[in-house]
Amino acid sequence: MSSQDGKETSDPQREQELTIDQLVESDPGLALQHSSSRIPADSISVVESAACAQRPAQVELYAHIGVGTCGTVYHETGTTTVLKLAKSQEWGVQLWNDYIIHSEVIAAFEKHGSTINLRIPAVLHFTTRTDTAWWTPNLPLFPRETEATDVLASERIMPLPRTICDSLVNAYCSGDAARKTAARDDPANTACLARVYLGRRRRVRVKPQTCFSLRNFPLHVDQILDIGLDARPWAVGMGQTLAVMHWEVGCDARDVEFVLGCQGTLSAAELRRLPGKTSTRGTVVGFGRRGVDLWMLDFNQVRGMSMNEKGVDWAVHAFFENDPYFPRPYAEDSEEQELWTVFQEAYLEMAKHCTQIRTRPALAEMPQIFITKVIDEQQKRLRVIAEIQARPRSLDEYENGETGGG
Ligand SMILES: Nc1ncnc2c1ncn2[C@@H]1O[C@H](COP(=O)(O)OP(=O)(O)OP(=O)(O)O)[C@@H](O)[C@H]1O
Ligand SMILES: [Mg+2]
Repeated sequence: MSSQDGKETSDPQREQELTIDQLVESDPGLALQHSSSRIPADSISVVESAACAQRPAQVELYAHIGVGTCGTVYHETGTTTVLKLAKSQEWGVQLWNDYIIHSEVIAAFEKHGSTINLRIPAVLHFTTRTDTAWWTPNLPLFPRETEATDVLASERIMPLPRTICDSLVNAYCSGDAARKTAARDDPANTACLARVYLGRRRRVRVKPQTCFSLRNFPLHVDQILDIGLDARPWAVGMGQTLAVMHWEVGCDARDVEFVLGCQGTLSAAELRRLPGKTSTRGTVVGFGRRGVDLWMLDFNQVRGMSMNEKGVDWAVHAFFENDPYFPRPYAEDSEEQELWTVFQEAYLEMAKHCTQIRTRPALAEMPQIFITKVIDEQQKRLRVIAEIQARPRSLDEYENGETGGG
């Protein structure tokens, strides 16, 4: 644990950490490298959540941390649990699908996950809107909910450490110091995860940045490369994971998300470094100085994929419909092209070990067919873009639709 006894400056390791902290203050690349290089567990803080400690009975236990089309996401204060609340009864059906697929992905990762550089949050339980035993006491504890709905509980991916959040603000929030301070102090920005877009560069910003949010901060491939991060392990992790989704789970991975975040529970090695019998119940961990991991989340739109070429077409469609997490072929930049190379190699290698491919010789060529179809589709898309770019007025329209990173 980092010492709170006033001796920090005489501890050489602490001195070194402080120096690095100062360095990363305005440089997200260094901040991420620093976190990825795994700070020793003896610098972890395990602190009771202030909100949890000071909360009088019957105020908001659940803090809003995210929202999407299907659900609103709350953190259960002082725990590592999140609740995804269906936006309506109809979305409850998709939330049940989320639950099933999430559970299947976890089972598949139990088989293959030890070789994959990516984490999946644990899935916990489903509570129906008709479960009055749970809803009656819990409804008043939500800030924005007025009626019971279906709920999926899972493990929270903890936010990126404060040093990284501050660095992202310093580097990418446009405007004066007051605007940056407001962004840093915005309570909404404490739920900071970064989306890893290995398939898209930032585009030319034509309109001024109106709002700056650290929730799902889009980290584009050019930003990742500019700040000197090695994105290849993430490309490999995504390729392996997509192969497991297709050929172990048998699904199209539609609309899943890939984010950088921290783990909220302590590993055995980290626990060993804590003083004996440290209380870890009702605590928030991971806001301190911990390693950053790549995670996959959000399974409500994932659909089963038939094990044939039609299924592969479905998977190719999902690949391009999703936000641009996966690297793309035909990148002009050689480092980006390398990301595609390692992604597809990892995909093909992992597919060989998946049950459908191992046990059904007729499917042996399917993973390569998927990769070939992605390459062909990307070629088509680039051709269309080139045609648009050849028409100046259309290009203006094209750029005016862009937002740029952050
Ligand atoms: N386990 C989690 N840990 C931390 N944050 C989470 C978690 N699950 C969801 N979130 C946050 O909440 C947001 C919305 O959740 P999610 O994407 O699952 O909802 P959705 O309604 O399915 O969204 P979409 O419209 O993208 O399909 C996420 O983008 C993420 O920022
Ligand atoms: Mg979703």
